[in-house]
Amino acid sequence: MSIEKTFARTLVTSALPYANGYIHLGHIAGAYLPADIYVRFKRLSGQPVLYIGGSDEYGVPITLTALKEGILPKEVIDRYHSANTEAFERLGISYDIYGRTSWDLHSDTTQAFFTKLLKGGHIDQQSMELWFSEQSQKFLPDRYVKGTCPKCGYEDATGDECENCGAQYAAHDLINPRVNIPNDSSTPVLRDSKHWFLRLQDFSAQLKEWLDGHDEWRANVKGIANGWVSELRARCITRDTDWGVPIPLDDAEVEGKRIYVWFDAPIGYVTNTRQWGIDAKGDSCAWELWWKDQSTRMIHFIGKDNVPFHAVIFPAMLMGQGDYILPDNVVGNEYLNVYNRATGKAEKGSKSKGNMISVRWFIERFSRDAIRYYICAIMPEGKDAAFDWDEFLNRYNGELCDVVGNFVHRSLTMTVKNFESKVPEPGAFDDEDRALLDSLPVQLDGIAESIENFRFRQASERLIDIGRRANVYFDGKAPWTTRKTDMVRTATTLYVCCQVVRALCTALVPFTPDGAAKLAGILGVSLPVGGPDGGDDGWNAAKEGLPAGTPLQQPEVLFPKLDPEVVEALAVEHAAGQAT
Ligand code: 2FM
Ligand code: ZN
Repeated sequence: MSIEKTFARTLVTSALPYANGYIHLGHIAGAYLPADIYVRFKRLSGQPVLYIGGSDEYGVPITLTALKEGILPKEVIDRYHSANTEAFERLGISYDIYGRTSWDLHSDTTQAFFTKLLKGGHIDQQSMELWFSEQSQKFLPDRYVKGTCPKCGYEDATGDECENCGAQYAAHDLINPRVNIPNDSSTPVLRDSKHWFLRLQDFSAQLKEWLDGHDEWRANVKGIANGWVSELRARCITRDTDWGVPIPLDDAEVEGKRIYVWFDAPIGYVTNTRQWGIDAKGDSCAWELWWKDQSTRMIHFIGKDNVPFHAVIFPAMLMGQGDYILPDNVVGNEYLNVYNRATGKAEKGSKSKGNMISVRWFIERFSRDAIRYYICAIMPEGKDAAFDWDEFLNRYNGELCDVVGNFVHRSLTMTVKNFESKVPEPGAFDDEDRALLDSLPVQLDGIAESIENFRFRQASERLIDIGRRANVYFDGKAPWTTRKTDMVRTATTLYVCCQVVRALCTALVPFTPDGAAKLAGILGVSLPVGGPDGGDDGWNAAKEGLPAGTPLQQPEVLFPKLDPEVVEALAVEHAAGQAT
């Protein structure tokens, strides 16, 4: 049975990035561009779809930044929330809402989740030994304490987790602990503190059964999720901090404690859907259709590091609510690394190396279509990929510009010039004409299938294939020659080319929205905008073609080529750490 018949609507989420830094191309390749391509395709197809995003605004990294800069956490999140909102907009990441976990509404949603789990017996209180700074007179959650990992020896491990090897351990196992607060480098001591724990083990059987029912998930996601489910235990969901959602309990023990950021962050998807319903529909209950109706299909787009939270912990929290749907797929991408010309190797993007490319820097220098095309073409779906300047230049110029853009341009220019700016009336079709015309619906179906199966790289290859095949046809038919001897043949050739251009106009929409819109303007085609309520099926409408006699506007270049010298100069700036 097809997806469209099974589900009435699709709820799409992209991981909420921390409002503690500028989003970079690694983020885009991981969770945002794939989701946006998927959503744009659904909207154009008329399938009801809602795309939820927002900033993740609590957690220790944010308070640490505030301490280091001598400002309030609120100032940190306001800075990055607004910068990232703008960066997403400029890149064309088309959220229906981009919310904030610092909203009061979010505390309300999070507290309701907590209370329901507590009442269901899924939250315990336990005393635990935690690192404490006698100098600063405070407990040291997460990154407030650093030390050597007991498992791998990494020297920058945090209180209970090692980002190098992924190990989790009790605080007292951390070797050589040191306080990590500006102006406090004392040696911490262990003290007891009471905290609240989510009993993940209560959901083991239900999680296992649910995961077993999803053979279609990517192997990387399934593997990580199964590993977690096999050894579930209670997880601490509160922290000693005053920056987070208050714990909804009338208990003196909650003093100086808040709900842990990884408990509240995915609930942000629910909060932001609630806010969307209020803003867009004036209906404070509109969100429930998207979260509680079994005919809603929920898809999470994330980077690989977020898999346990989206494929195990958040689903357990949803199960504990009793009436929520579960994600139908968790699309987890691998990492986008950065190619280092000096070493000839791909390396991990890191703040300290200064090798990350921020969206706000990149979008000032290149069109969003160029960026989106290249990132999609190298999307790290099955394995890591690397951003490489030479490849960026060659693939954008050589594929999108030379194959698709050039075909569209030469077809439309010749048509406008020779046939009074109208799609010509064709003569009799020969086998080549027919083969190309017949291939168009098949190729559109192929792209749709790739997108529905979350194979965005393959989808972009199929898009370029339309152009490749059409260029072979155009060269073979040589309308610039037949124009001198056989106008009927020339009209037929260009009629066929106009049909390819029409198909391309639609196929480009999810990937390169600006080029698609420009082309639609030239062809006089209207592209349905769709949305949460659905709309006309503009994807399959492309199969109806462009009738002879359709007036055409003056063609313009859809995808301007990149200048190799400009790209080279920017590659040098990036290598000098100036692209962050
Ligand atoms: O890894 C991150 O950037 C997290 N802020 C992602 C949170 S996703 C969701 F849970 F909100
Ligand atoms: Zn380690």
